[in-house]
Amino acid sequence: MKNKTLVITGATKGIGKACAYKFAKQGVNIAFTYNSNEQIAKEIKEDLETKYNIKARYYAYNILEPQTAKELFVAIDEDFDNIDFFISNAMIYGRAVVGGYGKFMKLKPRGLDNIYTATIDAFVCCSQQAAKRMANGGSIVSLSSTGNLVYIQNYAGHGTNKAAVEAMVRYAATELGEKAIRVNAVSGGPIDTDALKAFTNYEEVAQKTAELSPLGRMGQPEDLANACFFLCSDDAGWITGSTLLVDGGTTFNT
Ligand SMILES: NC(=O)c1ccc[n+]([C@@H]2O[C@H](COP(=O)([O-])OP(=O)(O)OC[C@H]3O[C@@H](n4cnc5c(N)ncnc54)[C@H](OP(=O)(O)O)[C@@H]3O)[C@@H](O)[C@H]2O)c1
Repeated sequence: MKNKTLVITGATKGIGKACAYKFAKQGVNIAFTYNSNEQIAKEIKEDLETKYNIKARYYAYNILEPQTAKELFVAIDEDFDNIDFFISNAMIYGRAVVGGYGKFMKLKPRGLDNIYTATIDAFVCCSQQAAKRMANGGSIVSLSSTGNLVYIQNYAGHGTNKAAVEAMVRYAATELGEKAIRVNAVSGGPIDTDALKAFTNYEEVAQKTAELSPLGRMGQPEDLANACFFLCSDDAGWITGSTLLVDGGTTFNT
């Protein structure tokens, strides 16, 4: 993996940050995006470069304006010669998901549309740009969630869009295989990050997840980062169009 380059959206915290550290530790250069936390992005860039002797750069990118992926990747071109891996990770929360995060009878087109834009359009626009730059083949991974398989309170908007992104992954994989580009999804059970802490019933979800998992604990960001890394490595050389379930055994036990 040494000297290869990963592009990843939303690496200021949570799963994206864990991915950046996992790949950098293995000698991979990191081009990552932030939305609101520029100072944190700066600190992560400096820490990655100091700790792992790799090149790291950060860029602003708003997944609610997915078509700006073109400008994002032109900026990345200034700093990196090639792209080997792309991980579509960033996700919206707060005001942007009002009408999308809630009970079925409260759902509204605006919130649902925002989640579609942030999940599907951002995956498509960034993956297209990344694929154009994967001259030697590569690997694309989208984060997904088991909330498209099992009921999670208030999660209808996200859950349905995660199902859609897994389908989009299969379409992309089928058409990009001839360029030696593999495309997969990692579907996580509840992972202890700020996004989950924003759930109105966080304590309940955290406790229930640990109970449902035969392993008796919540998922950690590193659990998904390790799966993303595996899917990008040559060890996953014949895996494409798949969704890797990383849920601590919770889905079957629900
Ligand atoms: N946590 C879970 O339980 C769980 C489980 C399965 C799958 N996932 C998926 O894993 C991914 C990461 O989730 P997470 O829990 O790690 O989230 P998180 O800790 O809340 O981090 C979200 C990231 O997205 C960025 N972001 C927020 N709004 C954005 C916008 N409008 N445009 C671009 N970037 C934006 C944030 O950047 P700033 O800090 O700069 O704003 C941050 O880096 C998501 O796709 C999520 O659906 C999460």
